[in-house]
Amino acid sequence: MSARTEAGKRIEKLLAAMTLREKVGQMVQLSDCGGVTDGLRQRLREGRIGSMLNVADPEVSREIQRIALEESRLGIPVIMGRDVVHGFRTLFPIPLGLAATWNPQLARACARAAAREASRAGYHWTFAPMMDIARDPRWGRIAESFGEDPCLASDFAAAMVRGFQGNDLSDPDAVAACAKHFAGYGAVEGGRDYDTVHLPEGLLRDVHLPPFRAAVDAGVATVMTAFNELNGVPATGSAHLLRKILREEWGFGGFTVSDWCAPAEMIEHGFCTDLRDAARKALLAGVDMEMQSTAYADHLEDLVTSGEVPPGLVDEAVRRILDVKFRLGLFDGRRPSAAGPEPKPEPAHLELARQAARESVVLLKNRNHLLPLSPAVRSLAVIGPLADDPYEVLGTWNRDGRTEETVTPLEALRQFLGGKTRIHAVAGLDYTRSRYTSQFEAALDAARQSDVVLFFGGEEAILSGEAHSRARLGLPGAQDALIAEIARSGKPLVLVILAGRPLTIGSAAEKADAVLYAWHPGTMCGPALVDLIFGTDSPSGKLPVTFPATEGQIPLYYAHKNTGRPPDRMPLTLIDDIPLRARQSSLGDSARYLDVGYRPLYPFGYGLSYTEFGYFNLEISSAKIRAGERLLVSVEVANIGAVEAEEVVQLYIRDTVASLTRPVRELKGFKRVRLRPQESRTVIFDLSGDVLGFHDAGMNYVVEPGTFHLWIGGDSEATLMAEFEVIA
Ligand code: BGC
Repeated sequence: MSARTEAGKRIEKLLAAMTLREKVGQMVQLSDCGGVTDGLRQRLREGRIGSMLNVADPEVSREIQRIALEESRLGIPVIMGRDVVHGFRTLFPIPLGLAATWNPQLARACARAAAREASRAGYHWTFAPMMDIARDPRWGRIAESFGEDPCLASDFAAAMVRGFQGNDLSDPDAVAACAKHFAGYGAVEGGRDYDTVHLPEGLLRDVHLPPFRAAVDAGVATVMTAFNELNGVPATGSAHLLRKILREEWGFGGFTVSDWCAPAEMIEHGFCTDLRDAARKALLAGVDMEMQSTAYADHLEDLVTSGEVPPGLVDEAVRRILDVKFRLGLFDGRRPSAAGPEPKPEPAHLELARQAARESVVLLKNRNHLLPLSPAVRSLAVIGPLADDPYEVLGTWNRDGRTEETVTPLEALRQFLGGKTRIHAVAGLDYTRSRYTSQFEAALDAARQSDVVLFFGGEEAILSGEAHSRARLGLPGAQDALIAEIARSGKPLVLVILAGRPLTIGSAAEKADAVLYAWHPGTMCGPALVDLIFGTDSPSGKLPVTFPATEGQIPLYYAHKNTGRPPDRMPLTLIDDIPLRARQSSLGDSARYLDVGYRPLYPFGYGLSYTEFGYFNLEISSAKIRAGERLLVSVEVANIGAVEAEEVVQLYIRDTVASLTRPVRELKGFKRVRLRPQESRTVIFDLSGDVLGFHDAGMNYVVEPGTFHLWIGGDSEATLMAEFEVIA
């Protein structure tokens, strides 16, 4: 008998032995609130808790599991969850930074390392990866996302699921992953967290759902419902999402968990009358486990007994939860119990964190090839609130990291340069929001005494992440003023921006010679930046999200639709060019702003290198394909500069005419290549005709016949183009 059938039998046996109360207990998840209290002990003994989250003390964790296994009637283990989002003890770049590596395999390795560390601490389940498509940098949780594009996010979602879950969930160092937040959460109005989401079904399916589908196809064990309402129905009460799409259409076999108190919040949403109603609607919709609020714990038993919800739905949910527990090996004692912390993170994990941080950094500007600096530089000014801060660079969800293990930029610079270079370090501002200018003079002095100035600023970890939306996206505090001040020194100026989202850094970047955008890079922040600043390696990150020039342009994303009056085809009059008492005229009708035009500060996919890449000889295997056939696309990529470096080769398409209009460009593939100076390589994309489609008015996925344009290059504004036909 296979292990699966064996487990199936054991689950059915257990289900038959369970009381209704014990069944409901499996559907209840609670957070640790102060160790093993008498109340908790009692509930565990009665089999009324199926899962806990945030049990950080290994002793408490072991005791909870012991009570569940030894003192409850049926001995069902508790599944322990935690938000292991971008690392555990070793922190990797925030997910937006990981996405900027355009290297899903690397993200997979990071997730694997995080799972190893978290499983040792007694966790079996991570609430990650988050795969909400984020097109609004005001939204704080963009930091946790893989950015704005469904193709890029899908590849990262699948890779991280595979990394967390390993080859087999029953491996002691695998953790169950959780695809979240299902669905549409990234599209909250105005970028305000938890706000309303309106998404036409086609847009939902074409843009917001693909990463979830990819996660399901990669075997994700669990899915978390979103806080938001979607087109009038809270996601946690949406049978359309949870039963129709997730289960019926995609065949998801794991279990669903609500977000924190999301069932109870359906009352505030105006969708449920009370907690009892919330329990009924969540269960009918397909929520298997409730996180933290007590709708299920308080009301589900009664709802079943009174016949308001069919008992079969409870059985189904419990079956799925038990199945994941079996798959994790929780019943077989194969998991180590929670151990105390390791003395130090593994060197291999730190090396991986350094590589991931290095690959995540995007070089936005490099006037006159200022970077890389020579290690023989005689003196350096190191200025800025984040130059020596071991905490803020860890980013959001940093609970299990240790500041004493973070290597800050200043520390890493000192280590790398030894005593040869004079370092003039002045914070200038003590933290990113500070408005005190008392250190400005000292900062300017330091700049004047140095050959090169390095500024490390951005935003603190707390300014992005959940509930941390911002309406203004400039550098917080007096950082702009500080940059203006140190620029007065006339010394070559490098900005290193550490942030959880795209910031509107246009005016600061203008004052600088070079800009490195480093997100929140995690534990190995300093060494990774030093690798790039001194050219041990070349920057190779690319933006996973469009950078607006100013907040008023939002939403701004590359895969937008065209209008009948595209701005790039019309003369563009900007506000300062308008004559006084201008006569009423359109000033060139097009979709743009009079004051800021239509161009982003930096486009999606953008990122410079210390070398230059040329793209030549774009060829396609056929001028005509049928839907479902493959198209081989090849291009020669050449390193035409002087240093070895990696390039992310990107392929975009446009379906030029369709029954529903299509975006001006859509990413359909990307590859990282490493090239030595003067080396060139033919890069081949095997493009499946199936990825060229969209959901039509009847919500069928179709690839319509017609002309397609295709571009390959180093960002979303690539110009090397080919054309092909899809025939019926
Ligand atoms: C967040 C989830 C997270 C959960 C548990 C919620 O507030 O939205 O993403 O997994 O808390 O910490």
